[in-house]
Amino acid sequence: MADTPFALFDTWFAEACATEPNDSNAMALATADARGRPSVRMVLLKGHGPDGFVFYTNRESRKGGEMTANPHAALLFHWKSLRRQIRIEGALTLATDAESDAYFATRHRDSQLGAWASDQSRPLDRRETFEARFEAAQARFAGGDVPRPPHWGGYRVTPERIEFWQDRAHRLHERRLFLPDGAGGWREGLLYP
Ligand SMILES: Cc1cc2nc3c(=O)[nH]c(=O)nc-3n(C[C@H](O)[C@H](O)[C@H](O)COP(=O)(O)O)c2cc1C
Repeated sequence: MADTPFALFDTWFAEACATEPNDSNAMALATADARGRPSVRMVLLKGHGPDGFVFYTNRESRKGGEMTANPHAALLFHWKSLRRQIRIEGALTLATDAESDAYFATRHRDSQLGAWASDQSRPLDRRETFEARFEAAQARFAGGDVPRPPHWGGYRVTPERIEFWQDRAHRLHERRLFLPDGAGGWREGLLYP
């Protein structure tokens, strides 16, 4: 048995990266508004380790508003052909500016310009409005690097609960639940399928 959920996550994630043809780092991100009403959407995992699981987005999006109002999230990976899921729940914090800058700098220039052009989650009157904003961003940053927009950045989910689910024959699925042990480590238990 893996000592920590992070070692087991690394193993499963590496297997998913090797076998899933598309977006093996895609995960569902569930948030809830101030009244506790949930919403969920896919995002891409861009960093992970014992300090948490990191993704990037527009902080003025619907999810951004919800994460400000209620800084807790649940993440779900489902790798269909491996017949596995991982559930992660925990508190949300902002990634540092340095982290967000470093990741933004690795993005394709068009994605960088798109981050300036997009008003994620806000209705646009027409597709042309977005295209005009994209062209305006192109002109604004012509000939230079595209800086990270102030409304765009990362979030980190610091896990408080991680569960690994593996499909087994005859519906005898294996569920391994990891919880903090209160002393800086993790304790593990099996759950009923
Ligand atoms: C596979 C996949 C990966 C995605 N990755 C991201 C991502 O990393 N960041 C992001 O902001 N949106 C991502 N999206 C788009 C979101 O699912 C969503 O449409 C968008 O962020 C707006 O969500 P909101 O209105 O709940 O804020 C992805 C969509 C898919 C299908």
